[in-house]
Amino acid sequence: MSSEKPLKQFGLLYGSSVAMETLYRQLERVAGTEATVLLEGESGTGKELIAQTLHLASRRAGRKFVAVNCGAIPAHLIEAALFGHEKGSFTGALRQQAGYFEHASGGTLFLDEITEMPCDMQVKLLRVLESGNFYRIGGSDQVRVDVRLIAATNRPLLQAVQEGRLRQDLMYRLAVFPVRVPPLRERGDDMILLAQHFLRELNRQAGTAKQLSRLSLDRLRHRSWPGNVRELKNLMVRAYILSADIVQIDAPDARSGRRTVFADGALNFHVGTPLADAQRELIMATLHHFSGNKRLTASALGISVKTLYNRLKDF
Ligand SMILES: Nc1ncnc2c1ncn2[C@@H]1O[C@H](COP(=O)(O)OP(=O)(O)OP(=O)(O)O)[C@@H](O)[C@H]1O
Ligand SMILES: [Mg+2]
Repeated sequence: MSSEKPLKQFGLLYGSSVAMETLYRQLERVAGTEATVLLEGESGTGKELIAQTLHLASRRAGRKFVAVNCGAIPAHLIEAALFGHEKGSFTGALRQQAGYFEHASGGTLFLDEITEMPCDMQVKLLRVLESGNFYRIGGSDQVRVDVRLIAATNRPLLQAVQEGRLRQDLMYRLAVFPVRVPPLRERGDDMILLAQHFLRELNRQAGTAKQLSRLSLDRLRHRSWPGNVRELKNLMVRAYILSADIVQIDAPDARSGRRTVFADGALNFHVGTPLADAQRELIMATLHHFSGNKRLTASALGISVKTLYNRLKDF
């Protein structure tokens, strides 16, 4: 509440920890260059925000920032999505269509979840990055665009390469400037500063003056934050809505009595568990079981990858 450090900001990012200052210095160096940046960090650590920050701090700031989630596009559509297609190149291709590379022309293209891109597509992408040009599907004219590339993965890079999810040659091409994004648990007291930052924003939007209780600060400090900044932000919104003048954060396990028990891959729900909670737990446990692979998770749960993404966003 009182004896806190000032909140530092770099572009769209907030945080005053040593880990964040180190990150700011790296971003400062690379922002103004044309180097391809490869961001590696757990889910919710702010990779997309970093990509936007790099774009805004570059000479491309006035041009487009195009974000593409490679994991959310069905494998058979990804080539057309990235490189576009010519009229008549396949059934239903009624007119020529530009892909994300062309849309981002002059600006920045952010390829998120790069390890979810099918392997044959990774080969094609590498070829395009090496040559600087490509063909729209069904086209015979080479297209050349000026795009700065930023890629991201929430899997450890070396592990992704070992597991065959990311081609080593593509990794080297993308990792001209690799950046590791620290998880929230490595950011000292940033969770407190960020919680207060999010609360200030909520207060400003609603014209209120709610404050965090001292006990809540302590609880924030002692949570494990597997969902990183996204989890913190969502927690603050929920706590803000549920609280009067003093915002209270529940103890981490306060709700576990009626939620789930996780043992040997089995989920145990108590009768009366809210459906939304049960669904969330089931999805997260399945995602965990498949080591974060969204395709396998969606398929096991019998939902589309797109639906899975929508659910994860809601969480
Ligand atoms: N340093 C930060 N300061 C302020 N807000 C942040 C910061 N880092 C992340 N956020 C917020 O947290 C949320 C998650 O960030 P973001 O979407 O960039 O994470 P991500 O690493 O791309 O996650 P995922 O791997 O799940 O896609 C967003 O609402 C973002 O605005
Ligand atoms: Mg992201």
